[in-house]
Amino acid sequence: MTAPVVLLLGANGQVGTELQRSFAGFGKVIACDRSHADLSRPAGLRNLIREVHPQVILNAAAYTAVDRAESDQELATAINATAPGVLAEEAARLDALLVHYSTDYVFNGAKTSPWIETDTPAPLNVYGASKLAGERAIQAVDGRHLIFRTSWVYGPHGKNFLLTMLRLGRERDELRIVDDQIGAPTSSLAIAHATRSAVDKMLSEAPLSSESRTGIYHLSCEGEVSWCGFAREIFSRGGALLHGRQPCVAAIQSEEYPTPAIRPRYSVLSNEKLHSILGVKLPPWQIALDEVLSRLQA
Ligand SMILES: NC(=O)c1ccc[n+]([C@@H]2O[C@H](COP(=O)([O-])OP(=O)(O)OC[C@H]3O[C@@H](n4cnc5c(N)ncnc54)[C@H](OP(=O)(O)O)[C@@H]3O)[C@@H](O)[C@H]2O)c1
Repeated sequence: MTAPVVLLLGANGQVGTELQRSFAGFGKVIACDRSHADLSRPAGLRNLIREVHPQVILNAAAYTAVDRAESDQELATAINATAPGVLAEEAARLDALLVHYSTDYVFNGAKTSPWIETDTPAPLNVYGASKLAGERAIQAVDGRHLIFRTSWVYGPHGKNFLLTMLRLGRERDELRIVDDQIGAPTSSLAIAHATRSAVDKMLSEAPLSSESRTGIYHLSCEGEVSWCGFAREIFSRGGALLHGRQPCVAAIQSEEYPTPAIRPRYSVLSNEKLHSILGVKLPPWQIALDEVLSRLQA
């Protein structure tokens, strides 16, 4: 079999960067950032896919500014909802596998136990609604796809909670962090690793059995914690990255930290389907955090 061609979109994002590492040696990876593949321009996207003729499309590009999306609905919808539909149509034409990421923010947070794939989504904000519309646009096309809903993404590079906490931890003596939103911090490294395992499985199987695995999967690190608990763990494990400082963390309620977008109170995802159908398991969030901290310290 010839090496598969993989088209990676959003190559410089948190997940995109780690996908480049995880898929190195997998086949011929064509990594595109926004300047090569702009998801707000569907015609260009179609041309690119027809030119490259990939067997796998990894879509790590998205409009991820949750608060800004509240006042930028049109662009968020173009990138998060319209473009995934275009990708699905082009993937189906080529019988390629489309891998796409969605979010825990498709849920309203009203449950108190982990959300499963068949729970009814009811997003509380524009970002969540645009991501849900993207899932539906992909599902409306009859093609092979994996939609991975993940949560609270952070990693060694990009704009994320971990790097913000490490910076603030070096600058301030006290921080006030929201304690009534519960989720599962998930590292970009763990997402990329799990994606590679899932794609390996899909490509190693007969087409019919890989078709039957098409669908939505929850993909997050194991366990749960509040943002405040996550911050405390970062400060207790951060070591030299904090330059010897140890800020005091005060727990606050969401009402004390108003944001343009409302967030769900409980958005932990159950990963059982991912494990039982694709044989993929992610580590507990604390282990994944240590892995990222080690990378930052290296
Ligand atoms: N971050 C989270 O907490 C979180 C939580 C749940 C799910 N997810 C989902 O996980 C996936 C990966 O997220 P991430 O954390 O890796 O996001 P990220 O770091 O913000 O990366 C997103 C990438 O998309 C690119 N992009 C934005 N607009 C684009 C456009 N019009 N055309 C092409 N590329 C564009 C960005 O490029 P520029 O750098 O040029 O802007 C960036 O490289 C996304 O589907 C996201 O919705 C993320």
